[in-house]
Amino acid sequence: MKVNSIKGMHDLFSYQVQNWKQIENLIHNFFEIHGYNEIRTPMVEKAELFKRVIGDETDIVNKEMYSWEDQSGDWISLRPELTAPSVRSYIEHNMDKLNKVTKLFYIGPAFRRERPQKGRQRQFYQYGVEAIGSEYPEQDAEVISMAYNIFDMLGVDDLKLVINSVGSTETKKKYSNILKNYLSDYIHDLSDVSKHRYANNPLRILDSKSENEQSIIKEAPSIIDSLNDFEKKHFNQVQRFLDKLNIPYTIDNQLVRGLDYYTLTTFEIRSGSIGSQDALCGGGRYNNLVEQLGGKPVPAIGFAAGMERLMMALDLDNENKDLKIDVFIVAVGDDAITNSLKICDTLRNQLGIKVMMDFSRSSFKSQMRQANKLNAEYVIILGEEEIKRKVGTIKTMSTGNQFEAPLDTIHKHFDVEPSKDDQ
Ligand code: HAM
Repeated sequence: MKVNSIKGMHDLFSYQVQNWKQIENLIHNFFEIHGYNEIRTPMVEKAELFKRVIGDETDIVNKEMYSWEDQSGDWISLRPELTAPSVRSYIEHNMDKLNKVTKLFYIGPAFRRERPQKGRQRQFYQYGVEAIGSEYPEQDAEVISMAYNIFDMLGVDDLKLVINSVGSTETKKKYSNILKNYLSDYIHDLSDVSKHRYANNPLRILDSKSENEQSIIKEAPSIIDSLNDFEKKHFNQVQRFLDKLNIPYTIDNQLVRGLDYYTLTTFEIRSGSIGSQDALCGGGRYNNLVEQLGGKPVPAIGFAAGMERLMMALDLDNENKDLKIDVFIVAVGDDAITNSLKICDTLRNQLGIKVMMDFSRSSFKSQMRQANKLNAEYVIILGEEEIKRKVGTIKTMSTGNQFEAPLDTIHKHFDVEPSKDDQ
């Protein structure tokens, strides 16, 4: 019986990898010109890290983490996101000593055992940034505008940036009580999931997708009214800077996000072009997290975006780019094969030419078909006749022109474009 891949985890084929690499390079450059440095953290961390950072009562930690007890008895988890590992590394390696503000970026896989559907996988790639060290709204504006400008630069349609402020931990607590008070009149109308959240994490009820609950929530007191003067000023300044940077946004006071670490600014960028899983990216401030994980009280903000969703929005994944090679060597017979191995080696190593040969000992005809399929620009034919005379035939596939060249110097014809004068 064959063994297939795990549900929600996908292979990327050559044509996709080519597209991905191109987009990844653009993202790398984009982050680098903003002064962010790449970090690569391990794929697995102690489970406790995510419990403490993301929150015990979140879906991610509660239901979606791949965790297991390893041989030493430690509980470890595949990372469901990259903020917690980045902050762990920042503290562990005393990055605060190097710069006042540490600016990190990452691109790598994350794992969540969610119900797979279009735009939602169990292994997906995230790219993102974490700016650790500044409490000021200009830092919020930089991070939000970077998130937005990547999509804009790549030409993603129908972008919608939504921002909110959830205030400090105290404000969130205060508002949770106000919200609970309001919802207590509707407790019997809430789903079981929301009833559970009512008791453990009431802010998350604001995220409910149910129409009935949405109509209840619409009338709920707004978190904005619970913000203190400092928090209101911070939020206003973020908006002012975004206006200056010409970044269009709307305010949604229900945007609390599914991870517990956020304070003050939260944001999401959505696109109508990718279906129901429309969040291209999400982020926000997490001013208490570094201290909560044993570091100094250092404020921070970041975002992460899903690569698969970006590729879907760009509609690149369906484009099957044809392979194209420079030279294909058609070799028939043992001596020809020996020679073609040598010529491949020389062309690749001395001239950097993309060259392939047949490894299935196929017939002459079938090898020519392979050359065509690979869009080879030139074919070198090494038949038994040619080998006896110590020559090879170079054929230009587009014109059908061909000429013979001595075997030991045949590679020299590819140092410059082979032309008729060579014949
Ligand atoms: P998040 O909203 O959980 O935030 O994920 C960020 C983005 O990752 C989403 O907007 C989406 O594009 C993508 N994503 C999440 N889950 C999946 C999935 N199952 N399949 C495909 N794509 C997915 C975070 O992860 C935070 N760490 C963001 C952050 C960074 N906040 C501050 N710094």
